[in-house]
Amino acid sequence: MASQLSLQAEAIKIEEEWTQDLLYWVKDLFHVYKTRYVETVALRNFNLKIHRGEIIAIMGPSGSGKTTLMNILSGLMLPTTGRIYFKKNPEEKKIINISRLDLVERTRFRRENIGFVFQDYKLFDYLTAEENVQVPLLIQNMNPEDKKDRINEILTSCGIEHRREYKIEQLSGGEKQRVQIAMALISSPQIILADEPTGNLDTENSIKIHYLLKDISKKYNTTVLIVSHDIKVREFCDKIIELE
Ligand SMILES: Nc1ncnc2c1ncn2[C@@H]1O[C@H](COP(=O)(O)OP(=O)(O)O)[C@@H](O)[C@H]1O
Ligand SMILES: [Mg+2]
Repeated sequence: MASQLSLQAEAIKIEEEWTQDLLYWVKDLFHVYKTRYVETVALRNFNLKIHRGEIIAIMGPSGSGKTTLMNILSGLMLPTTGRIYFKKNPEEKKIINISRLDLVERTRFRRENIGFVFQDYKLFDYLTAEENVQVPLLIQNMNPEDKKDRINEILTSCGIEHRREYKIEQLSGGEKQRVQIAMALISSPQIILADEPTGNLDTENSIKIHYLLKDISKKYNTTVLIVSHDIKVREFCDKIIELE
């Protein structure tokens, strides 16, 4: 395990070598799940740099640690060991180490910086598409006009504005996924974490959703991480991370 002294030296080095476009710098990540009888190593000696506006595919067989990595990047879970350095924007002076934040700080970090897109649609079925997209804005202090404009823009960008009045149960799988992407995007996150977003979709809709994520990444300069089994994602991602 890294000593206090070497961690201080690393922090200095990180600060010196941090480039403008760097969002995350993950160092020596190691994660083991311990249950009473078994230990499962999910991530071992994992290192990664993620840049702003980059679209990255995470590939690997089931059980290779893809979801674990997402959970650690978002601060949902602390790694067994390792550091996750993060800088919100180039102007910001401070580089934070997510693995050193407490529960409250990590919750706040997640709310301010992360947008999630899951395979199964985590949406409110009894609300309309538009109402779902509004939910993350409820806790934000935004004036009603700006809020309306923002929602219109995001619904349009995600190609779901014509279904805004529809209840979730009235939507197709592809449309539900568009609502989830809109919901993830509405609070302007630094990064969207999409864990097998097309796992429940047919090939045609999968391609459309992948392209939507790419368009959004370019349009808003949002970083996107996609866990996918679809080898076609290789064609349009800036980087591929293979987990074993
Ligand atoms: N909560 C948990 N408790 C124990 N083992 C877990 C837990 N979550 C995941 N694992 C194990 O860790 C490994 C990686 O899991 P995961 O990150 O979910 O992989 P992937 O998303 O690539 O399928 C798997 O072997 C899985 O069984
Ligand atoms: Mg998974």
